[in-house]
Amino acid sequence: MESSIITLNSIGNQQDLMIDPPSSELALQGTLTIPGDKSISHRALMLGAIAQGETTIEGLLLGEDPRSTAACFRGMGAEISPLNNQSITVKGVGLGNLKEPLDVLDAGNSGTTMRLMLGLLASHPGRFFCVTGDNSLRSRPMSRVVNPLQQMGAQIWGRKNNSLAPLAIQGQNLTPIHYHSPIASAQVKSCILLAGLMTEGKTTVTEPALSRDHSERMLRAFGATLDIDPSTHSVTITGGTLLTGQKVVVPGDISSAAFWLVAGAIVPRSELVIENVGVNPTRTGILEALAMMEADITLENQRVVTGEPVADIRVKSSSLKACTIEGELIPRLIDEVPILAVAAVFARGTTIIKDAAELRVKESDRLAVMASQLNRMGAKITELPDGLEIVGGTPLTGDELDSYTDHRIAMSLAIAALMAKGQTTIHRAEAAAVSYPEFVTTLQQLTVQ
Ligand code: S3P
Repeated sequence: MESSIITLNSIGNQQDLMIDPPSSELALQGTLTIPGDKSISHRALMLGAIAQGETTIEGLLLGEDPRSTAACFRGMGAEISPLNNQSITVKGVGLGNLKEPLDVLDAGNSGTTMRLMLGLLASHPGRFFCVTGDNSLRSRPMSRVVNPLQQMGAQIWGRKNNSLAPLAIQGQNLTPIHYHSPIASAQVKSCILLAGLMTEGKTTVTEPALSRDHSERMLRAFGATLDIDPSTHSVTITGGTLLTGQKVVVPGDISSAAFWLVAGAIVPRSELVIENVGVNPTRTGILEALAMMEADITLENQRVVTGEPVADIRVKSSSLKACTIEGELIPRLIDEVPILAVAAVFARGTTIIKDAAELRVKESDRLAVMASQLNRMGAKITELPDGLEIVGGTPLTGDELDSYTDHRIAMSLAIAALMAKGQTTIHRAEAAAVSYPEFVTTLQQLTVQ
């Protein structure tokens, strides 16, 4: 009889995920699809909401984060069809026409929702907005967007010198700036570009390294005027251009594919094909890191779908070797560091991850949490101020772990548990639904005995 090594136990709103790998080796085989890209899903909903006319979105991520974005923009007058299948329509209000919401806008767990939306709210003159989020989001730094918006003339108030949500915003006519961002962050860049869209004149953002460019691609597709200077990592937007509703096809999220890429690489005798994965070069750092680690990964059927590169990705298990992940590669794999830490635990030698201090201000402190949770299982990880030092090759033993309510931590630990001896329990595993509601079902299907 078939049985699963994966069980889920619900306690109120919380879930414990139990993973009990067989003593004989597990092999992962099959073809899978993954949910839509989270970054592109947010942007499609937001640009659809402020465009003229109708936007249709195929393949939208039906996770909790895009639901937060949809709820916020519905509260400001956009008509967004229910997020209950992957074809969504958005009837936009038109540029500058977001309505003053009658209630607080709740971004939930989503930093992208809050930071991108702030650029739009701050630049809607005469309207007042309040934004908040969950426990995690209310502790994440908003000064990185509040400061440049204030330089443009925005009026924003919040705790800790206007740096923490809840935030109150009194919309203004803003003045264009050239902002030199101290960090490579697509959320910061996109926030300022969206404020610039509503501001007369040219607003420029320069970043120290290139971050994901989904906003630039989609803003152009919707009709905005953008100048991009790749040599200085600068983007200039000319304010005032009206956006027109578009058809957007959202590719699968490479950040979700990453769990299966690492699982397929570390679980012996595995071969997986992950179909329809977005392979935008600003997101494929994970493929370069795994190539350095000598993973057996090939891209097939490469194509471009509504302005974004897409491919099917085949991974076969192989013996991994340690590597150093640093510098300009970091922004291109920023969300994949937790699962790369798992890969490094199973690699020969010592992997160094550095220049990644940003991980400390994600949904959790991902450096501290990955080090503490994997070390509980027997890994040898030392936290660095801006990264991790991971001595590979020590066997893992199942233990009782916690997601710290961070979706990527929950899923990364689940993949590590596949290769541990004995049962692992991951508390608060429901966090996975933020970006990958079907994660546990897919894990069950792949590991059925
Ligand atoms: C995102 C940008 C990244 C990433 C986040 C999504 C986006 O954050 O970690 O999950 O959609 O713009 P930063 O821009 O803050 O690095």
